Amino acid sequence: MRSLLGRIRRKLSRVRSQITSPPSTTEKQAIRRLRDHPRSLVLWLDLIGLSAPGMPEAVRDQIRSHDLTRTGIILGFKDELESRMGADLEAAYKRLEAESAALVCADVVAEMIRLKTIAQCRDAHAEGNYYRDAEPFMQKQWDGMIWPIIQNLDFQHVLELAPGHGRNTEFLRRLASCITLVDVNPNCIEACRKRFGERVDGCQFRYFVTDGDSLAMIDSESQTLVYSFDSMVHFDSSVVKAYLHEIVRVLRPGGSAFLHHSNYGTVAPNSDWAHNHGNRSDMTAERMRAFASEAGLEVTFQRLSGLADGWGLEDLDAFSVLRRPDGP
Ligand SMILES: C[S@@+](CC[C@H](N)C(=O)[O-])C[C@H]1O[C@@H](n2cnc3c(N)ncnc32)[C@H](O)[C@@H]1O
Repeated sequence: MRSLLGRIRRKLSRVRSQITSPPSTTEKQAIRRLRDHPRSLVLWLDLIGLSAPGMPEAVRDQIRSHDLTRTGIILGFKDELESRMGADLEAAYKRLEAESAALVCADVVAEMIRLKTIAQCRDAHAEGNYYRDAEPFMQKQWDGMIWPIIQNLDFQHVLELAPGHGRNTEFLRRLASCITLVDVNPNCIEACRKRFGERVDGCQFRYFVTDGDSLAMIDSESQTLVYSFDSMVHFDSSVVKAYLHEIVRVLRPGGSAFLHHSNYGTVAPNSDWAHNHGNRSDMTAERMRAFASEAGLEVTFQRLSGLADGWGLEDLDAFSVLRRPDGP
């Protein structure tokens, strides 16, 4: 983790030193500069800062907590974000002709946060001792928390989202005939491939790397269960929301999703996961119910999870089971 922080700091100071132009002082000036460079993250950050007073309080909170400024950690992901957001930033620039900067920038802020937190969470889990240290706790977590909730679900085709080095997979493979592993870190997928290969005791394995909020590589209506434990707790609510729309698509009618997610948003609603207790995100149980309903999923089970389950705070997390309704 220390080497990761060092790498991020070095990258940040390199990018900061490349930014020589002074920040714009008026919205008009910021928009004028964007005309020639509509994909420039730094110029959008200037406009966001200048138009923030016209935005809702919740968005201003998010800008503060994610430090969406010329000096914020977001600059460490400048090239990646400019490449992923390029077309959307150009479209946002065109909107500025007819709409207020505050309105347009609020949408840009939402996308920046989604992509920044994906990149940040990916890099924070690319390496480290977590995988070795967490493995011995799995039997207790499976027996005490997970199995009582999932025992009646259909394990035929399981998609495990964010498996890390496969400590949950080790339990799931004894129940499933096919497991599809999807993670944002290629080295996690490689660790799982090394551990399980193509097949173990009649369970077949498939492996995919995601860009962090999509399951585009998975066929629609192909899975009976989507499973994620101790990973989604870090995902920003915007990332969870995007995944739910993918989960409903890949589930067979009648299929379910078991999702372990943060409830820390009840304490810090517009916060950055990287600064929160246990690196929990702004998700809540209530938000999960709203996102599920919007995606067309039923909530068949939900409970909060805290000290009794071994997390550091009462009601820190939640377990939700979502079901894709039968029929068209
Ligand atoms: C704390 S580890 C947990 C791994 C595993 N679930 C476990 O219990 O050991 C978090 C995992 O989430 C993955 N991850 C982080 N952000 C992701 C994203 N946006 N989409 C998919 N996987 C992600 C990381 O690569 C890592 O494998």
